[in-house]
Amino acid sequence: MHSHGTAVAAMLVAQRSGRLRDDEAFTAGLLHDIGKLAMNVWLERKTEALIQLSTLNGWSFVECERTVLGYDPGQVGGRLAERWNLPLSVIDSARYHHEPDERPDPSLVVDAVHLGDYLASVLGFGLGADGLQYALQPNTLVRLGLHPQDIDRIADDLERERRLQAESFEEIVA
Ligand SMILES: [Fe+2]
Repeated sequence: MHSHGTAVAAMLVAQRSGRLRDDEAFTAGLLHDIGKLAMNVWLERKTEALIQLSTLNGWSFVECERTVLGYDPGQVGGRLAERWNLPLSVIDSARYHHEPDERPDPSLVVDAVHLGDYLASVLGFGLGADGLQYALQPNTLVRLGLHPQDIDRIADDLERERRLQAESFEEIVA
């Protein structure tokens, strides 16, 4: 649910920006959390301890993962996407979607996924343990050529688009 919400939001961000391909943003959005999915499968027993650490110290979930495990979902996702020979836009979005400014050469796809992930998280599409601590990086809007008021319009479009996609899913399985 969260990955699909992010994919649709990233696609809408790309359409409103007009500076990148919307299909590329959709695919990168769909796969952006592969690192988190892999860690959920392989590290199930440590999740409870990480949540406790986050609550006790007021650290973000990612800070706890870096401290306890020595790596975070972005690093895992980036390495997995590389190993699976996925496109560079997917690798970069998996690795940098929480901190697009960390990429040495900024990427508009990563920016679209960052904003899409932010919208999906704050609008409650599959809110995870770290969903409420999500900080939108202001440079992202500048690079995409968007203004803060565009975020509200994209959020409205997101609700409508998700309803349409749910209807088309019912047609697919009918
Ligand atoms: Fe996400």
